[in-house]
Amino acid sequence: MIAPTVKWIGDCQGVLELIDQRRLPGEFTLLSVREVEPLYEAIQTLAVRGAPAIGVAAVYGPVLALQKLDAGATAAEGLECVLQTCDYLATSRPTAVNLFWALDRMRNRAQEVVADSEATLAQLHQAMLVEARAIHDEDIEMCRRIGQNGAPFIADGAGILTHCNAGALATGGQGTALSVMFAAHEQGRSFKVYADETRPLLQGARLTAWELQQAGIDVTVLCDNMAGWLMRQGKVNAVITGADRIAANGDAANKIGTYSLSILARQHGIPFYIAAPSSTFDLSIASGTDIPIEQRAKDEVVQFAGTPTAPEGVAVYNPAFDVTDAQNITAIITERGVIETPGTESVREALA
Ligand code: MRU
Repeated sequence: MIAPTVKWIGDCQGVLELIDQRRLPGEFTLLSVREVEPLYEAIQTLAVRGAPAIGVAAVYGPVLALQKLDAGATAAEGLECVLQTCDYLATSRPTAVNLFWALDRMRNRAQEVVADSEATLAQLHQAMLVEARAIHDEDIEMCRRIGQNGAPFIADGAGILTHCNAGALATGGQGTALSVMFAAHEQGRSFKVYADETRPLLQGARLTAWELQQAGIDVTVLCDNMAGWLMRQGKVNAVITGADRIAANGDAANKIGTYSLSILARQHGIPFYIAAPSSTFDLSIASGTDIPIEQRAKDEVVQFAGTPTAPEGVAVYNPAFDVTDAQNITAIITERGVIETPGTESVREALA
């Protein structure tokens, strides 16, 4: 198991430690985050990334912000600081709902504490750390359960295709899609994972391959445009990916390219699974068409390690995510169980 992706060190005056994923796999570096601004930047530049991990990292933001407040400030001033910090961090990335879900929990807890007129700033600060740690611990447990619930979908000798990185680097625990693989591996099954490189930021090649290799799981990297041909050769028995936001009807946003994979899987009669915790569901939106899709900088597409790979000034299309229709998803593996044939009814029942 790799070092925790997100780690809080110390008490209320502590520091947030993040694995800097921008530098992997070449360099393993830990970032020490002591203020909200660098935390925002770490999320926006993908030093920390993956839906659950950005939520788990962000909840330590209010704890960091309160460190900077004058010790003589009131709890009400502390609450204001927490709310502002949450609003600010919520603008770092738009698609993964875990970020908003986690920040809402921090806001609600802060409001609850300050509702007591006797509450002090120190009590609020302590409550923020306790809530952040609770969210973090819950994520670890959700990942573990997703692994247990999903492992039976990986048969001995299977070929599994995955996209982007939904492993320990993308969560507070051992991952979602990769947790399923880790659990099947621990149960003694032998299988082969194909990791799409995941253009443009190569989360599959850089991060998924790195994680699986360290776990001793047989992994092969391929370019994204090779997946269809791999399926045609009969080498893929299941596709398993994570998700960034799942609408009430089961439509799921995930890394750009996931939608195409779901069509390919359907064409080849291959089951397509999404592994995600309940914190990734957004029941406030009816379908995937309402999921905001992050558009990222054009340099991510037309440069490779700083070297231009397209003519200067060319127009660029760079959505970071796409939406897979529920009808293309065989099942959603959650910590609460498996949602077979996802749809409004089955999602509501599973999350009730
Ligand atoms: O842009 P990223 O790297 O944050 O995108 C991550 C993904 O799309 C993951 O597949 C998703 O967050 C699931 S992580 C368990």
